[in-house]
Amino acid sequence: MPLKVLFVSSEVFPLIKTGGLADVSGSLPTALQGLGVDIRILMPGYSPVLNQLKDLQPIASVHHLPHIGHAELLLGTIQDTQVKVIVIKAVSLYERDGGPYSDAHGHEWQDNPIRFGVLSKVASILASDHSPIADWQPDIVHCNDWQTGLTPAYMRLTEHSKAKSIISLHNMAFQGCYPPRWVTTLGLPSTGFSIEGFEYHGQVSFLKAGIFYADAISTVSPRYAKEIQTTAFGFGLEGLLTKRGDEIKGILNGIETDEWNPETDPALVENYSSAEIAGKAQVKKALQAKLGLHIDANAPLLGVVSRLTHQKGLDMLLPHLQKLIDSGCQFALLGGGDSDLEDSFQKLAAHNPGRISVTIGYNEPLSHQIMAGCDMFIMPSRFEPCGLNQLYGLAYGTPPIVNATGGLADSVIDSNAAHIKNKTANGFVMVEASADGLIACIWRALEMFQHDQKTWRQIQKNGMAQDLSWGKSAQEYLVMYQNLSQ
Ligand code: ADP
Ligand code: GLC
Repeated sequence: MPLKVLFVSSEVFPLIKTGGLADVSGSLPTALQGLGVDIRILMPGYSPVLNQLKDLQPIASVHHLPHIGHAELLLGTIQDTQVKVIVIKAVSLYERDGGPYSDAHGHEWQDNPIRFGVLSKVASILASDHSPIADWQPDIVHCNDWQTGLTPAYMRLTEHSKAKSIISLHNMAFQGCYPPRWVTTLGLPSTGFSIEGFEYHGQVSFLKAGIFYADAISTVSPRYAKEIQTTAFGFGLEGLLTKRGDEIKGILNGIETDEWNPETDPALVENYSSAEIAGKAQVKKALQAKLGLHIDANAPLLGVVSRLTHQKGLDMLLPHLQKLIDSGCQFALLGGGDSDLEDSFQKLAAHNPGRISVTIGYNEPLSHQIMAGCDMFIMPSRFEPCGLNQLYGLAYGTPPIVNATGGLADSVIDSNAAHIKNKTANGFVMVEASADGLIACIWRALEMFQHDQKTWRQIQKNGMAQDLSWGKSAQEYLVMYQNLSQ
């Protein structure tokens, strides 16, 4: 009998996406399905999800939910991957204009504890003896991030589920902490509101609940698994994480190689490969034209696609960006987030027409074009659980320039003399996480790009030759599932 896994997530590409969690929730289940796992995703029924799923049909009603009482469950399929998705249809919670976590102005939805409490509760009910879906009961419930964190608590405390739970930690910075009145509203037993439970500094913490009650814990890179056990990266939960330290498995994310492949990517004017890389120059030219940059094959083009938040460290680029432009570089940024950062980059763009392009917003095709058309990709994150953009950069022959943290440290190998010699070099790693550390690293990359094309090509080739697919990592999740279900 194949293992049955319920994969619970608040965002899944291509249905809805705000960041890397969606990429992983789209591609990891596909890879696991390929390994013979009988997997179903459970997610909220946001309008774009209802609109995109194929063959969507009602399969059950679920009762005893916090606040809303009951909801309908629908089953559909993701067109390209044939992965099955169970959707919670609850109009009042999920069908509204705006994003999955906040409204169109970026204000968090006030009822997020209910919206994700319901998601967690439904997952726990589906893993219990009284599940309304009698013919498909999961052996494993795989939770992701705080939005699903109450699932292991409900499974243990209220549904007494026999299934095992895993929580994957994609980002400790987001924890879902809410005032204590939510204990009752969410139907949680008050006994759990303690240090040995889901209480965190007088609040209900969704993420702590997940970490405390889950049968197994994973993070999205080996380095991050260690980092989160320290004060600098644990965001207050390092004590609890250290207690479970030996159990925390770090598994590096893979990428969806059908979606992110320069040989087939439909967003590019020309496709290219490591062996025939000439097309990359055409993509650069088209990108320069599209973004209003001077068309200049020789100007080094530096790219960024990112949420603009403290985590991503792009403020470290600001003090030196003008110097880079004055030295002949161009810069293309796509992203959005903190208004201070947006404003600072936009001001620089206004002062440097034809040399700096800043696009504020979310744009999937443009993210592919920047990844392919730029010469190097900048990602100086202060912390980065895994990071997917540096992996996309490797696949697209756009060497990443990164800070030495989390998944960046686990995937980018600095182009120092030893790594160039043994052909493992694939990017550039900052020695120091500061503005000066970043600019020093960029100058080093530029020096090579402009004066040693042969080595540059080798670095591109090394990255493009890597197996960045889910193959090995999906296998590691499978082993986790098998160990748990024994
Ligand atoms: P995080 O999830 O922390 O934001 P990741 O590197 O894991 O970081 O994943 C970010 C994902 O979101 C990537 O697929 C990236 O291409 C995408 N992305 C980020 N910002 C934008 C944007 N403004 N437009 C399009 N895609 C974006
Ligand atoms: C989070 C992290 C990012 C990771 C992604 C998917 O958003 O910030 O580093 O790649 O989750 O796991």
